[in-house]
Amino acid sequence: MDLAEELSHRLANTDFADACQAVVQCLRSSVPHYNWVGIYLLEGEELVLTAWAGPAETEHTRIPVGAGICGLAAAEGKTIIVDDVAKDPRYLACFLSTKSEIVVPIFREGRVIGEIDIDSDQLAAFTEEDRRQLEGVAALLGAVARRAGGA
Ligand code: SME
Repeated sequence: MDLAEELSHRLANTDFADACQAVVQCLRSSVPHYNWVGIYLLEGEELVLTAWAGPAETEHTRIPVGAGICGLAAAEGKTIIVDDVAKDPRYLACFLSTKSEIVVPIFREGRVIGEIDIDSDQLAAFTEEDRRQLEGVAALLGAVARRAGGA
């Protein structure tokens, strides 16, 4: 299944906020190793949690750009995969169960406007295929932001 293709129909007429909510729910329910899925949007120099799906809320609802894996991905404008969060000093802990993480920036016209953050309870859960799929979903969100206004 191609996640971006699947989602493109659902996001055809949504506004950006609804699109973010639909994306976190779809990702979480479609992929078993995506245990917690969130979307943070950039507000000034902070990432603000806008939508999430998972078993528990996180205390990290605002993350300064540059802090944690989330802040790093936003600062660098690059996808970051951490295979073992326990071994990465940059990691900001949210859930005791989390073993690995992927953070994928969302761009609007070349500028980072936010990111998709996914935690997995499995070690090294995120492959190049996850990266490819999620970068496709992030591109879709960037297109919705452009069409519908957002971030
Ligand atoms: N682990 C992230 C913080 C966000 S929580 O995973 C929801 C980080 O290192 O930036």
